[in-house]
Amino acid sequence: MASLLPVLLFSLLSSITAQLTQPLSPAPFTPADNFLLDCGATTPTPTPNNDGRRFLTDSESTSFLSAKDQVTASVPSAPGVPSPLYLSARIFSDDTTYTFPLTSPGWHWIRLHFFPVNDSNHDLTQAVFSVKTDDYVLLHSFNLDDPSKWALKEYLINATSDRLSIHLDPLRNSVAFINGIEVVSAPDMLISDSASLLSPVGQTLGLSNFAYQTSYRLNVGGPLITSANDTLGRTWGSDKSFLQSRSTAQNVSVSPGIVNFPDGTSPLIAPNTVYATAVHMADARIGSPNFNVSWVLDVDPSFGYLVRLHFCDIVSKSLDDLYFNVYINHKMAISGLDLSTITSKLNSAYYKDFVLNATVAMDRIFIQVGPLNDDSGRNDAVLNGVEVLKMSNSVGSLDGEFGVDGSRANDDSGSSKSHAVAAVGFVMMFGAFAGLGAMVVKWHKRPQDWQRRNSFSSWLLPIHAGHSTFMTSKGGSAFGSHKSGYTFSSTLGLGRYFSLAELQDATNNFDENAVVGVGGFGNVYVGELDDGTKVAVKRGNPQSEQGINEFQTEIQMLSKLRHRHLVSLIGYCDENSEMILVYEYMANGPFRDHLYGKDDFMPLTWKQRLEICIGAARGLHYLHTGTAQGIIHRDVKTTNILLDEDFIAKVSDFGLSKDAPGMNQTHVSTAVKGSFGYLDPEYFRCQRLTDKSDVYSFGVVLLETLCARPALNPALPREQVNLAEWAMKNKRQGTLEKIVDPLLEGTINADSLSKFVEAAEKCLAEFGVDRPSMGDVLWNLEYALQLQEANPPTPAPSHARKASTDKNDAAVAATETKKDTATAPMEDQHSAATVATDVFPQLGEMKGR
Ligand SMILES: *[C@@H]1O[C@H](CO)[C@@H](O)[C@H](O)[C@H]1NC(C)=O
Ligand SMILES: *[C@@H]1O[C@H](CO)[C@@H](O)[C@H](O)[C@H]1NC(C)=O
Ligand SMILES: *[C@@H]1O[C@H](CO)[C@@H](O)[C@H](O)[C@H]1NC(C)=O
Ligand SMILES: *[C@@H]1O[C@H](CO)[C@@H](O)[C@H](O)[C@H]1NC(C)=O
Ligand SMILES: *[C@@H]1O[C@H](CO)[C@@H](O)[C@H](O)[C@H]1NC(C)=O
Ligand SMILES: *[C@@H]1O[C@H](CO)[C@@H](O)[C@H](O)[C@H]1NC(C)=O
Ligand SMILES: *[C@@H]1O[C@H](CO)[C@@H](O)[C@H](O)[C@H]1NC(C)=O
Repeated sequence: MASLLPVLLFSLLSSITAQLTQPLSPAPFTPADNFLLDCGATTPTPTPNNDGRRFLTDSESTSFLSAKDQVTASVPSAPGVPSPLYLSARIFSDDTTYTFPLTSPGWHWIRLHFFPVNDSNHDLTQAVFSVKTDDYVLLHSFNLDDPSKWALKEYLINATSDRLSIHLDPLRNSVAFINGIEVVSAPDMLISDSASLLSPVGQTLGLSNFAYQTSYRLNVGGPLITSANDTLGRTWGSDKSFLQSRSTAQNVSVSPGIVNFPDGTSPLIAPNTVYATAVHMADARIGSPNFNVSWVLDVDPSFGYLVRLHFCDIVSKSLDDLYFNVYINHKMAISGLDLSTITSKLNSAYYKDFVLNATVAMDRIFIQVGPLNDDSGRNDAVLNGVEVLKMSNSVGSLDGEFGVDGSRANDDSGSSKSHAVAAVGFVMMFGAFAGLGAMVVKWHKRPQDWQRRNSFSSWLLPIHAGHSTFMTSKGGSAFGSHKSGYTFSSTLGLGRYFSLAELQDATNNFDENAVVGVGGFGNVYVGELDDGTKVAVKRGNPQSEQGINEFQTEIQMLSKLRHRHLVSLIGYCDENSEMILVYEYMANGPFRDHLYGKDDFMPLTWKQRLEICIGAARGLHYLHTGTAQGIIHRDVKTTNILLDEDFIAKVSDFGLSKDAPGMNQTHVSTAVKGSFGYLDPEYFRCQRLTDKSDVYSFGVVLLETLCARPALNPALPREQVNLAEWAMKNKRQGTLEKIVDPLLEGTINADSLSKFVEAAEKCLAEFGVDRPSMGDVLWNLEYALQLQEANPPTPAPSHARKASTDKNDAAVAATETKKDTATAPMEDQHSAATVATDVFPQLGEMKGR
């Protein structure tokens, strides 16, 4: 009798639990901390998530906020946003902190809601900012550039003190914004300290020492479960868009009420509605199917992941009939999973955690379930739920490789990135001096490195790896699909998505006549979108080796770089493995075409030239300082400075390699030739590329602006070939006037000229450390402009501008350098090398080594 009591008690308890977990009555977990802020809201929005929770308005949440000023934006409605929470936002132009006093340390959810509401004073789609706690980087250079896109970012953090701070730091000259914040206690049992490792197989401990970001949370085989129906306010999306070959899979569901939660599980881990639906093998009952059901989830390969799989045998009619294998990334995760033995009952919840190291995870997570292939039981397999949580890296970052204190991740992926500079340096050397034996050996010794560097990112340093995962929605479409809906997709935040058909229309099916530039990457076409917007369409050569994933990573980064003086990436298309980039159209084409080399150009005035140089300097200054890690353009030249219809200068090609320098040497040397006269001699000597290499190249651009001749012109007498040397020699001899563009004669204020030349000279200093920063150059140029405006020499010939902009060949973003008189003689590898050794005598020594 005594032994029956516990059994009775247990069944009593489980029937109570079953009742408590009916869909409409979430299991009781009362969070000790429950901070819910509707940022920017002036009046309380009744239950913004339809889940009965009350969010505080701005005036009710002042005690959490450090900001003095109160800048808000709101719209009465917006199509597609899931909650009125998104209709208002708080905007910050300075670093700002929200601080929450916690009842006790331990696990807390942080949920951040973003939507760039339409505001007349701030264009929030241009806002770029970072979000951090005291210990963790949550978002790095975050930007939501689509006015119809909202995002919910969810984190799980083990708070170690009784305060939790959330810092919002806008990028310089930008703002930060936020629409809603949730800081809510989570139950301790949510993260157990250990999980299984796949390779090598084993256990890992210490999971409470990581911070997590939800990358995916899927209710497999079932519908969306919103925060209102979850036991902990989580959202579970549909697995539909991640399921491979759908015909192999079938939905199955039971009434949520019959799901059991044995010891060690709880509706807090996942609600019964998750366990009550599943996907299992189609036609499992007929014949003996032998295949896996597979899901593929894209992830950022530079992080580790906690993968939690939820199982519940809702397909069997009796115990001991279902055994199956579970694989993650083609490695056995659970061999012969026997839910009957583990739970002793049908319809019982079970879950298992796996940690995937950054190297194991690669860039996608494959989850597969399949039959055992032996005679035991039926051939079937089931999966009920999947959670993928990104784990903070060694410096506590969940986005990008830098920690809160600026330290850099020292894991494998991190350290290999720091070699990238040397690798690119090496590309250049190889291209220019194919005879350099030592270099060739070095290259062949490290083929994998070469392969890795041979990417879009090769020219853009340092390389910033990072998909960030979004829970986001676009428009009012159904939840759960891949491109729209409440999914955790890594393809968003990449600018606008174009369909192939749309771009075919825009370019008259990639008509030859629409080609305005050609490069190793592929052709550049001018196109016109439906709404009449002109665009430059850069279509990747399908034969090029660059992978779609690298392509997407690259776009994601490029779309984060937004500045008035950088050519904007508007969007992309990756349909049918196409790699197409769509840029804003630059009506007046490359700066160079307005200096020399074309027959029918209108000469620019000195003031216009100064303004163009200032614009380009601003763009470069932003590249160098606007992002945490700084970016080196590496290919600054007058053909990469493009002019829009108002002659505003924008720097282009700051991310894409024109040529994928594979084994094909001609391609490599083309890339080198294009920038030859601009190369920093120190970079040649030491193979160390810094932002000061861009400053050197910019110095050459300044001289080109002044003298209106190519940086390198081998057709000239030897001492004049290299513009930098020739100009500096004339400067020293006091004969600079002789080489100034004759079209400018008599129009330049002498002080303005001397300030300008001084800036150019400093840029061209032998050693990088002696060169000014782009910020200093900018200041000098602005000063030169002031001097010119204060006292312009008269009479200035009037140059009517903006008149004929009909040159359809000078009209494209990211235009490739076309053959012209300046580069044509260097087509031949040998003459390039000869010129190089003439110009940089020190290179002759290197060759001999
Ligand atoms: C949070 O982390 C600390 C160590 O940093 C650990 O002692 C504590 O147990 C963790 N809390 C939970 C709930 O796991
Ligand atoms: C934003 O608001 C302005 C008026 O303030 C309106 O003209 C414009 O169409 C709005 N844009 C969008 C995308 O709703
Ligand atoms: C399974 O159910 C979900 C939602 O209920 C649905 O979207 C999906 O199409 C179904 N999948 C299959 C393979 O029937
Ligand atoms: C979620 O809750 C709503 C009511 O808040 C209910 O109408 C709906 O059926 C629930 N969905 C599920 C999947 O339980
Ligand atoms: C299922 O997937 C695993 C891992 O990818 C593979 O080893 C196995 O052969 C697959 N099984 C079948 C039947 O295709
Ligand atoms: C990654 O794998 C190594 C073994 O290769 C293991 O020692 C380490 O604990 C793993 N990392 C994590 C976060 O589990
Ligand atoms: C190398 O480039 C040339 C043109 O520059 C092209 O004709 C040739 O097919 C390329 N070779 C390979 C192997 O890609």
